[in-house]
Amino acid sequence: MPAETLPSLADVPREPGAKKPDPILVADGVVRRFGGLTAVNVQHVEIPRGRITALIGPNGAGKTTFFNLLTGFDKPDEGSWTFNGKQLGGVAAHRVARLGMVRTFQLTKALNRLTVMDNMLLGATGQKGENFFRALIPAIWRSQEKEIIARAEELLVRFKLDAKRNDFAGSLSGGQRKLLEMARALMVRPDMVMLDEPMAGVNPALTQSLLGHVKALREDGMTVLFVEHDMDMVRDISDWVIVMGQGAVIAEGTPDEVMADPRVIDAYLGSQHDEPGADTPVAEAPAASQPAATVADTADGTPAADKPAGEEKA
Ligand SMILES: Nc1ncnc2c1ncn2[C@@H]1O[C@H](COP(=O)(O)OP(=O)(O)O)[C@@H](O)[C@H]1O
Ligand SMILES: [Mg+2]
Repeated sequence: MPAETLPSLADVPREPGAKKPDPILVADGVVRRFGGLTAVNVQHVEIPRGRITALIGPNGAGKTTFFNLLTGFDKPDEGSWTFNGKQLGGVAAHRVARLGMVRTFQLTKALNRLTVMDNMLLGATGQKGENFFRALIPAIWRSQEKEIIARAEELLVRFKLDAKRNDFAGSLSGGQRKLLEMARALMVRPDMVMLDEPMAGVNPALTQSLLGHVKALREDGMTVLFVEHDMDMVRDISDWVIVMGQGAVIAEGTPDEVMADPRVIDAYLGSQHDEPGADTPVAEAPAASQPAATVADTADGTPAADKPAGEEKA
C-alpha cells in the first residue's frame, strides 16, 4: 500500500507506548536482564504498518537487545509481542524470518567465505551459520533453484551487486556488505525489515544510495524499523521516531518533535555523564545544534574504527 493511503499518524498521541491506527508489531512488558542490569524494559510499543520508524537512543539504551528479542535471536525474561496479529514470543529466528520479519545486524553478518550469490541463497532460508549452510546450499539449488536464483539476481541488480555475484563477500567494502545484507534480508519477501545501524561505517558516497533503498522498501509496502544515530538521516527518511533510554521507551513522535523533547535531550546528556567511555556520545545528541555526521568513514567504505568485539549479541 502506498504511504499516502495509509492511516495518518497525525492523531497518534506523542507519548511512550502510543496506540497506532494499524500496528504491524505490538509488544507488551518485554524485559531482558543481564545479571543485575535491565537492558530492556519496554512496557508497550506499537510499530505502524507501512511506515519507516526510527528507533533512537544513546549507546546502551537497549536498541540492539530489543531487536534481538523481537527477531528471535535472544529470549526475554518477560513479555510478549505480536507480529501481524500472531504471537511471536519464543519463535526461533529462522521461523520469524519466514513469517515476514527480518533484520540486519549492527556489525554485518555477511558470510565472508561464501560468495555474494551464496549469501543471497542462504537469505532465502532466513537463517545464518556458515558451516550448516555450506552443507545446505546444494540442496537449495536443487530444490527451488530457478525461483530463488531469479529472486537473488533481481535483488543483486537492484542493489548494484550483480557484477560481484561470484566474489567472496569478504572482498566487499563495508558499504557493499551493508547493501548485501539488506538484499539478503529481502530474499524472504518480508513484510517488515529491521535495520540495526544500516548507515554506520558506510562511505558517504554510498549513504544516499542506502537511504534510497530504505525509502524504496516503504514504497514497496514494507514496514521499516531502523536504528540510526545520525539525526539528519533520521529526519530525512522517518515517518515516526521511538526513543529508548535505559531499556524503556521514553518518547515518541515525529523526528522534529522528539528532537526538541527535553526527556530525549536529558537521556542523551545523561548518557554522556554515565558513560564517559561511550564511543560517539556527542555526535549522538539529537538536539545539540547541528548533529555532526556520526561515524568517521574511510575512503573504501569500511568503518574507521571497529566497534568492540562482543557488542553484537546474536
Ligand atoms: N550479552 C550481554 N551480556 C551482558 N550485557 C549486555 C549484553 N548485551 C547487551 N548488554 C548490555 O545491555 C545494555 C543495552 O545494550 P544494547 O542493546 O547493545 O544497546 P544499544 O544497541 O542501544 O546501544 C548495555 O548496557 C549493554 O552493555
Ligand atoms: Mg546497538
